[in-house]
Amino acid sequence: MIFVKDLSYSYGREPIFSGASFYLDKNQKAGLVGSNGSGKSTLFKLLTGEDQPDDGKVEVGGQIMLVPQEVKHDPQMEKAPSIRHYLDPKQTAEDYELLRIISKLELAQFSLDSSPRNLSGGQKTKLAIARALVQKPDVLLLDEPTNFLDTEGKNWVMNFLGRYPKTLLVISHDLSLLDSKIDKILEINLQTKKIDEYAGNYSSYLQLKGEKENLLVRQIHVQERHIAQMKKGWLKMSHVKSEKGVRQRLQLEKRIDQLSASLPQMPLQAKKIKIKLPDPQWVGEMPLIAQDINKTYGSKVVLNSVSFDIKRGERIALSGPNGAGKSTLIKILIGLTLPDSGEIVKDEKLLIGYYSQEFETFDFQKTLHQTVKDKCGLPESTIRSLLGRFLFTGDQVFQKVGSLSGGEKTRLSIALLLAQNYNLLILDEPTTYLDVLSQRLILEAIKLYQGAMIVVSHTPEFISELKPSRQFLLPENKMVLLS
Ligand SMILES: Nc1ncnc2c1ncn2[C@@H]1O[C@H](COP(=O)(O)OP(=O)(O)OP(=O)(O)O)[C@@H](O)[C@H]1O
Ligand SMILES: [Mg+2]
Repeated sequence: MIFVKDLSYSYGREPIFSGASFYLDKNQKAGLVGSNGSGKSTLFKLLTGEDQPDDGKVEVGGQIMLVPQEVKHDPQMEKAPSIRHYLDPKQTAEDYELLRIISKLELAQFSLDSSPRNLSGGQKTKLAIARALVQKPDVLLLDEPTNFLDTEGKNWVMNFLGRYPKTLLVISHDLSLLDSKIDKILEINLQTKKIDEYAGNYSSYLQLKGEKENLLVRQIHVQERHIAQMKKGWLKMSHVKSEKGVRQRLQLEKRIDQLSASLPQMPLQAKKIKIKLPDPQWVGEMPLIAQDINKTYGSKVVLNSVSFDIKRGERIALSGPNGAGKSTLIKILIGLTLPDSGEIVKDEKLLIGYYSQEFETFDFQKTLHQTVKDKCGLPESTIRSLLGRFLFTGDQVFQKVGSLSGGEKTRLSIALLLAQNYNLLILDEPTTYLDVLSQRLILEAIKLYQGAMIVVSHTPEFISELKPSRQFLLPENKMVLLS
């Protein structure tokens, strides 16, 4: 059970919540939605008690467990001598149950006896989800549990959650997978800073929300027309010199100001962004060629004689299911991992910019402003406008990078990549964590980039809009011409 009443909370700037309330009963399942930075992860911290509300009441019945968006340092995981101990500290589950869950979460390559410490960020996150599913707390909070999974894994997790016998609150972009099992949707309303409850599943929420937005847009148009008419009237009165006339005119002016100030904000819509990107550093015809690359992990062959090349300014989509070796190939191309055999030939002018959700090179103590300044060496005025184009405005540019929300970090990473003069960008799942608006924004910005690009994305529209000329398929190990 979760009971939240008149919750208020802020990080010192604008409030995140102001008088927000909601209730979730035992064994109810709900989805939590809201745009990037609206406060979803913050609400979770308030529910677990990691953070205290400024005002209001937060009550949780029974044992609560949270799996955060990214698991990097989990003390329990670091302490645990083996995966088995971490998943099931009380040793009540059978090995086969544990093995089944970790294999469904695409961690079958690890034995229960191995240490969880050497796992990658994504694998740690999946292991933490496995732990929650094994332990079944009374209240389970999951922050984007499907980010690191491919389609099959996503379906399995969502199915499992659909049958979860206790209170569940999940933040996800994949809520349609849970559709028939959801009791309500909680939405963080950016305008009112309250939590709106929508009874019913995700699809009915989307429909209701769409209708509500259309209505709002119509109301705004009506009010705008009304204001325009009042302004005309005000202009007509400008020649009136009598005391009464002047008073009336002032009154009207006040009324216009009031009405304009009370005009609700339009629902955010992605604008076509106008942005000037630096030209990529000049590079030869064939910036990068990989020949006959082989890579095995233990007994598993991941890359078997892979040959790959990319031309100057070319866009290539890299596709394949999880575990097919996409990230391994990428890491070999950029020199982060060594192949067992094979050769990578790079043009001497090649400058690679790399994005992956697991690979952040931020100094978390620096502010956004300082980060852009240090990485891109841009003049003061340009820093502000670059950040503004990527939706970071006002005081937020002086926020520490470490405290950005998941989606905000992704947005900043991409902004930084585009503001430098790389001639090859390698983007591994650039849209994870992003809400629809930010996805659009990032897509429009990436489309303007003139250098070569290798993209991995599970979002088909993203790939099709980028119009790659070739697609490299793994594990088939085949290059396909697209247009
Ligand atoms: N310690 C902090 N200091 C200042 N601002 C913060 C701090 N922590 C979070 N914020 C800001 O509060 C807002 C809410 O953050 P939160 O992480 O809850 O968002 P979210 O809804 O989970 O977003 P996302 O979908 O991107 O994960 C964001 O704008 C974030 O930058
Ligand atoms: Mg979050």
